[in-house]
Amino acid sequence: MSQFPESDRVVIFDTTMRDGEQSPGASMNLEEKLRIAEMLQSLGVDVIEAGFPIASNGDFEAVHEIAKIIGQSVICGLARAGAKDIDRAAEALRPAKRKRIHTFIATSPLHMKYKLQMTPEAVHQAVIDSVTRARNLCDDVEWSCEDGTRSDIDFLCRTIESAIKCGASTINIPDTVGYTIPSEYATLITTIRNRVPNIDRARLSVHCHNDLGLAVANSLAGVTAGARQVECTINGLGERAGNAALEEIVMALRTRADAMPYWSGIKTEAITKTSRLVSAVTGFPVQPNKAIVGANAFAHEAGIHQDGVLKHARTYEIMTPESVGLTNSNLVLGKHSGRHAFRNKLKELGFELGENAVEDAFRRFKDLADKKKDVFDEDLIALVDDQVMRVNDRIKLVSLRVMAGTFGPQTADLELEINGQTKATTASGDGPVDAAFNAIKALFPHDAKLQLFQVHAVTHGTDAQAEVTVRLEEGGKTVNGQGADTDTLVASVRAYVTALNKLLVKREKSAPAALSA
Ligand code: KIV
Ligand code: ZN
Repeated sequence: MSQFPESDRVVIFDTTMRDGEQSPGASMNLEEKLRIAEMLQSLGVDVIEAGFPIASNGDFEAVHEIAKIIGQSVICGLARAGAKDIDRAAEALRPAKRKRIHTFIATSPLHMKYKLQMTPEAVHQAVIDSVTRARNLCDDVEWSCEDGTRSDIDFLCRTIESAIKCGASTINIPDTVGYTIPSEYATLITTIRNRVPNIDRARLSVHCHNDLGLAVANSLAGVTAGARQVECTINGLGERAGNAALEEIVMALRTRADAMPYWSGIKTEAITKTSRLVSAVTGFPVQPNKAIVGANAFAHEAGIHQDGVLKHARTYEIMTPESVGLTNSNLVLGKHSGRHAFRNKLKELGFELGENAVEDAFRRFKDLADKKKDVFDEDLIALVDDQVMRVNDRIKLVSLRVMAGTFGPQTADLELEINGQTKATTASGDGPVDAAFNAIKALFPHDAKLQLFQVHAVTHGTDAQAEVTVRLEEGGKTVNGQGADTDTLVASVRAYVTALNKLLVKREKSAPAALSA
């Protein structure tokens, strides 16, 4: 609820699982997508773009399964202008209680001539055909003019008018290549509102990429000019430099309601945990100085700032940490905590697990509490994320023993379960991490190249869990894996094995040409 009228409500359209997943390395498996979808729904996202059903069987299945379990948010599937794309999207969305087909085609001279090799007339006809087809299959249709910000305004207005006539109720104006600037984008939205005769029958939407670091500013300029849907992603994930970050859009609207009197239905207190989940799933760490969700976003280092905040928080804080769900990394449970407290804590953190999963998590928590004095929220999130989302992995870590130190060669004894069979080996290497990774390669031979190995601590202290990110590349495809453990080497192997599992999923996906948008 808000003090502002319904006409000033901004629909939040999340595309983390579609445009976000197009970031190199950010692929997600089915369990991960289901968990993210549930989290987005509890965050209060209005529309969840769950994938691009024609892109692969994995994408189709993800949209289909998400459609079965999500009841409040609208589930959306992306489709190019062709009949096959649209029919596939409709099929994937069949079980959804509330569904939307999002169809698009490029309208800029550059894209029409070189990418599509179509005349403007043919593109205009494709808009009519695609929107009509989608509308016959689904009541809620969104149409996007890809590369809208570099399109000819007369042509743009004509295609928008036709899309609305054929039944599109949302018209999205993407800044596909992150080229526009706020004043220009606001003018474009205003012009469309003034020139398209039937624009009152549709909601205008903004979709901005961040190539010039202007995605959020452009999106807000679009809202100020009359757009009432913003397409965005958690942590600003997305193609190249990413999409507009959901958390920044929503908190800007909330914090500066005096200057931008619009509102969204987002429960901002769920922002931090959603951001952490997306980071854990994709293996994309959030930079410490990232607005709203970075580790330093609410940290005050300078003495003069600390002094001011202690005297009155608003001297240096324009929003409270609590408003984005940031509680002081509170000490949650000790090794003597019981099941009841543990179950409550999981609920509070947003995990709804079945009986067996809770038991398993409880056992792992006890193991962790034995190794680590203080167990924080972040530790539990890492522990449960790992458990919930890795259930269907084909490769699993069974055990690891490493010989490290100043006298080489360092060696690793490793046991992996591969497709249900346990295999063991010993390998040496240039350091313990290299030895452990060589052991993985010996047990599961592959040609993927290690592109990134990064370690950071989940919480403070020398007994903190290490969170490791590993990026692998194979045939131009990249995947990220994350692993957490109090032992950095175990975390490293977990991260590598997760990345390998993702690579296996990715191998099964074969994306058709020109899918990226
Ligand atoms: O950036 C873009 O143009 C897109 C469209 C498919 C909406 O992602
Ligand atoms: Zn996009």
